[in-house]
Amino acid sequence: MKKIVIAVDGFSSCGKSTMAKDLAREVGYIYIDSGAMYRAVTLYSIENGIFDGDVIDVGKLRNEIKNIHISFRLNPETGRPDTYLNDVNVESKIRTMEVSSKVSPISALDFVREAMVAQQQAMGKEKGIVMDGRDIGTTVFPDAELKIFVTATPEIRAQRRYDELKAKGQDASFDEILENVKQRDYIDQNREVSPLRKAEDAILLDNTNLTIEQQKEWLFENFNKVVK
Ligand code: DC
Repeated sequence: MKKIVIAVDGFSSCGKSTMAKDLAREVGYIYIDSGAMYRAVTLYSIENGIFDGDVIDVGKLRNEIKNIHISFRLNPETGRPDTYLNDVNVESKIRTMEVSSKVSPISALDFVREAMVAQQQAMGKEKGIVMDGRDIGTTVFPDAELKIFVTATPEIRAQRRYDELKAKGQDASFDEILENVKQRDYIDQNREVSPLRKAEDAILLDNTNLTIEQQKEWLFENFNKVVK
């Protein structure tokens, strides 16, 4: 069976990553969460005095971006990849509300995107990869054989993120999360560099009213159409 590149793009918290991870595991592909890479750069910026309060020291980040290396290693306990920032496991640190609320302006910086896109393209060189994000089908892998654009209403996405944080025992307010989801949608769609948009040849998946199982079925149907 031929190996392909699968690009999964869409709005935040619409279940893209769960879907992409499951698909990668089932078909034996590598899974890359590109959002985790922007989150890791954001965490680095917070921890190194680059993102202080509401202000980003763009010059300092530009100088240091070449020292920010992101990798993924399989966690044998969860069977899923954890995100490493310069060889330190930051998987739980990058999922906090603080990082979520600061990641959009960081990911809007052109030199940050250039550095991440280069790392992402290198990861996909051998194909056999599922990558999720915002610009995978449009910018990172414009020639991907299968492109999926996922969407769902802001309310259902906020509810999913709320449930996720609660399940991890983290403090969460539904209204705050909904506000954050809407704010990120706006920034993601309106930024100058690589705004979130559906690639012309991507297939649309609105999963507002789909169960995980229904979504899986849809996904395999489309995967099989392309590889066979
Ligand atoms: O998918 P996520 O919510 O973990 O992504 C975090 C942020 O990173 C989100 O606000 C948009 C940004 N992002 C991006 O700009 N490009 C990508 N390919 C992936 C994520």
